Amino acid sequence: MAEQHILTPISLSERLEYVARVKEWNEQYTAEQGKRRGCFVLTFGCQQNEADSEKIAGMAEQMGYEIKATPEEADLIMVNTCAIREHAEKKALSIIGQYKHIRARNPNLIIGVCGCMTARDHRRNELKMKYPYVTFTLGTASLHHFPKVLWEVIRQKRRLITAESEEDFTKTVAEGAPVRRESGYRAWVSVMYGCNNFCSYCIVPYCRGRERSRRREDIVREVRELVEAGYKEITLLGQNVNSYGKGTDCDFADLVAELDTIEGDWLLSFMTSHPKDASRKLIDVMAEGKHIARRFHLPMQSGNDRVLKAMNRHYDMAKYLDTVAYMRERMPDIVITSDIIVGFPGETEEEFGDTLKALEAVRFDMLYSFIYSPRKGTPAAEMEQVPDVTKGNRFDRLLATQNAIAAEKNLPMQGTTVRVLCDGESKGNPDVYSGRTEGGKIVFFGGTPDMVGQFVSVRIDRTEAFALWGKVE
Ligand code: SAH
Ligand code: SF4
Ligand code: F3S
Repeated sequence: MAEQHILTPISLSERLEYVARVKEWNEQYTAEQGKRRGCFVLTFGCQQNEADSEKIAGMAEQMGYEIKATPEEADLIMVNTCAIREHAEKKALSIIGQYKHIRARNPNLIIGVCGCMTARDHRRNELKMKYPYVTFTLGTASLHHFPKVLWEVIRQKRRLITAESEEDFTKTVAEGAPVRRESGYRAWVSVMYGCNNFCSYCIVPYCRGRERSRRREDIVREVRELVEAGYKEITLLGQNVNSYGKGTDCDFADLVAELDTIEGDWLLSFMTSHPKDASRKLIDVMAEGKHIARRFHLPMQSGNDRVLKAMNRHYDMAKYLDTVAYMRERMPDIVITSDIIVGFPGETEEEFGDTLKALEAVRFDMLYSFIYSPRKGTPAAEMEQVPDVTKGNRFDRLLATQNAIAAEKNLPMQGTTVRVLCDGESKGNPDVYSGRTEGGKIVFFGGTPDMVGQFVSVRIDRTEAFALWGKVE
């Protein structure tokens, strides 16, 4: 293993000193060159990573960089990686590989790699040895070290392959990073970081460290400011939001209830809830809420109890179905979505059949399905694997089953009017606008630029498994 630089904890005031140094260095450049240095941020992975990238861009801007849309225009490239499946890692490494050419044209280019992949020793080592043009790495728990690490690579003209300190990985919740939000009406707000669940297939706990929650007052302030600034949908993020505030007098349901009292025309949603502790209290708060979107993402992963146990999920199908039944009892119109992994090690044909049966029993509105990908260092990677062809075949059957269910579930929406948060022109056709319902379903309709970022009423006249079409009323 190559020598690695362990970052020692840093205070906000110390961080701001480094921000000031980089800023001064950038201002000097602008004075001499008549233009600003540019920063390009590329994001892989989940919403948590998107939220982190908004902080990276915010800090870069604070340090005097101009945010650019392409890597060719940048003096600083930040690649925010994901490690959830092999494919995500391969994609990031391949793009980082392509930056070699940009670096060859611009020897002053700084390339930073951050995110979940960089928390893995073997990946950090690979970046160090095989990608010599990568200037520094930064783990997810070390994001607040960005200004300091950047200043050190600038000043010392060296590479820094960093590792997180135990303190940052297990305890630190760094506040005070400016956020450069991608959207002016949808916002992410992280409420907690890390995961303690160690599902046997999952790399996240090794990449993001232990669960730690932000202070309630910091979250309430951030959400209030966003609503006042006109944000229409605010999504609370955490790997397992139900663990928010464990051991304190404010649990996740209390937090959601408090946020719901913020006045305005806005929607509150959250992800992700672990079925083992999605509480009735939270469902009650939702049912009685004014702003809480009637949408619940509850990853089931498998419909078979033996597989769930081998996955270390700590619930069985009886418990899962009970939670779903209670949600529907309290909110008959709730949109329920889920994640499924097919081809978990040892999954038999019969056990996979239980997952298909569970889809028929629950009838999800939407499903995110994944082919199991072995992650080095997790228990499931050591178990007996299901052959790739079998995995592919099960994946196709899962999709076919779910597509039929989703199409049937959307059909009764024809002729109804739904409230849609308008996102603007759809890809490929500027006359057709798209937006999302409170439940997160995508809707296409004829729109105008003034509707972007606003709620509009759309009367649905056509539906398919993945989308709805209609006219603004
Ligand atoms: N914290 C969230 C999900 C994080 S990862 C939760 O617990 O629900 C998002 C999804 O990726 C998971 O729900 C799971 O379905 C999938 N996933 C995680 N590890 C995987 C792996 N090794 N192979 C395939 N899919 C995986
Ligand atoms: Fe991964 Fe499980 Fe944690 Fe979700 S709850 S991030 S699937 S270990
Ligand atoms: Fe990927 Fe890390 Fe999210 S592994 S899915 S970016 S938590």
